[in-house]
Amino acid sequence: MPRTRTIYVCNSCGATSLKWQGRCTECGQWNTLVETVEAPRASSPAATALRAARPQQLSSVETNGIARTPVPITELNRVLGGGIVSGSLVLIGGDPGVGKSTLLLQLSEVMCASMPSVLYVSGEESTQQIRLRASRTGRIPDNLWVLAETNVEAILDHVEQSRPGLAVVDSIQTVYSEGVESAAGGVSQVRECTMALMRAAKSTGIPIFLVGHVTKEGEIAGPRVLEHIVDTVLYLEGDRFHQYRLLRAAKNRFGSTNEVGVFEMTQEGLTEVPNPSEAFLSERPEDTVGSTVGVVMEGTRPLLVEVQALTSYAGSGVPRRTANGLDYSRLLLLAAVLGKRVGLKLSDQDVYANVVGGLRLDEPAADLAVAVAIASSASNRAVHPETVLVGEVGLSGELRSVSQLDRRLAEAAKLGFTRAVCPRTPRSLSAPEGMQLVQVRTLAEAIARSLASPRAGE
Ligand SMILES: Nc1ncnc2c1ncn2[C@@H]1O[C@H](COP(=O)(O)OP(=O)(O)OP(=O)(O)O)[C@@H](O)[C@H]1O
Ligand SMILES: [Mg+2]
Repeated sequence: MPRTRTIYVCNSCGATSLKWQGRCTECGQWNTLVETVEAPRASSPAATALRAARPQQLSSVETNGIARTPVPITELNRVLGGGIVSGSLVLIGGDPGVGKSTLLLQLSEVMCASMPSVLYVSGEESTQQIRLRASRTGRIPDNLWVLAETNVEAILDHVEQSRPGLAVVDSIQTVYSEGVESAAGGVSQVRECTMALMRAAKSTGIPIFLVGHVTKEGEIAGPRVLEHIVDTVLYLEGDRFHQYRLLRAAKNRFGSTNEVGVFEMTQEGLTEVPNPSEAFLSERPEDTVGSTVGVVMEGTRPLLVEVQALTSYAGSGVPRRTANGLDYSRLLLLAAVLGKRVGLKLSDQDVYANVVGGLRLDEPAADLAVAVAIASSASNRAVHPETVLVGEVGLSGELRSVSQLDRRLAEAAKLGFTRAVCPRTPRSLSAPEGMQLVQVRTLAEAIARSLASPRAGE
């Protein structure tokens, strides 16, 4: 029996240390070292593999070995880079209850049509629970196999024996390896089990999908090195209280990380949303004070989103700022620019800003939509109907140009918007058919050209 020892592994970069330290000497991060019990190996497989490998002329390396199986779920297929690559290890992370198991069960179901069999392993749910979910999501194919198991060696035995076309392990935090003494979900267990699954995927050519839990900070729990080991990391985003879910690639060794898949959680499971802009604007009330429409790029796709703002008198207290779906400090910045550069009196006003549909806006191109929504609520004037707003707001109150403006405007025109307020661009910009362009230099000008006259009696 090899002797075990206690080491400390950095949760951020994976460096190891024999004693605990407040700061990792490798990556400089604080409080990332986690106590881990490790059994030393006689000879590490990586070292053995290294000795077995021989240098090869790069030009003579065969490239036709990468086989992709297309996924009939278009939104997922695009995010994966055009299909599932044989022998790849894919990690899907997301908040509790966001729909990770649902997505992978649906994937397993549809892949049964083009594969001899699919094995879905769950360490979290009983086979009865999986069956219940499957009844909700669709027809259950006969070649879909389920296994409630947490021992990684047992899982790999089943994979070896049954040789499925695809294997799913839900979740990596519940599986454990007999060779590691610490509890399942611990840093070394997660790392060892992922390495074992990676070796199996590479040696058999069977693609394996893993579910990974995320921490409160939104990162995949366990060592960050987990993200380095796997080929692809996808995040399923959105909260449980909104029906929309966004699937993004944070890393992809076989495709772009720019693509985003949009789904809706329904009674039947996750359904694709082929035209997300239309869906996000479907409940927008027309001609409402404090509501604007902006265009953000989600990967390579322009997406129209509704932004709402409400300003209300704060009384004698300190005025509050609340941001939902956008960066809080960005909201503070916009409120400050509106106060100082536009002369809007917000110092005695609470400001609430919200992005409709559970989306999160991280792009500065959404600044104008947020700023005009606040100005609209504060002045009680609605935005001109069928107007879309795009632009980054600078600290001097200037409106800055944004990338891919033509694509954003084309998407807005496609959805029936006839007027766009946007920054002046160095190159002349041609308006999409049926759309009037209002190109302005400053936020003050943008507000003046966006808001309709005050309502009668207000
Ligand atoms: N009958 C139903 N109709 C609509 N939505 C449902 C129904 N049953 C479950 N859901 C949705 O499915 C979600 C659960 O999905 P799922 O179990 O796939 O999530 P998960 O990400 O795997 O969660 P966990 O991290 O707990 O494993 C619920 O939060 C709920 O939104
Ligand atoms: Mg689950």
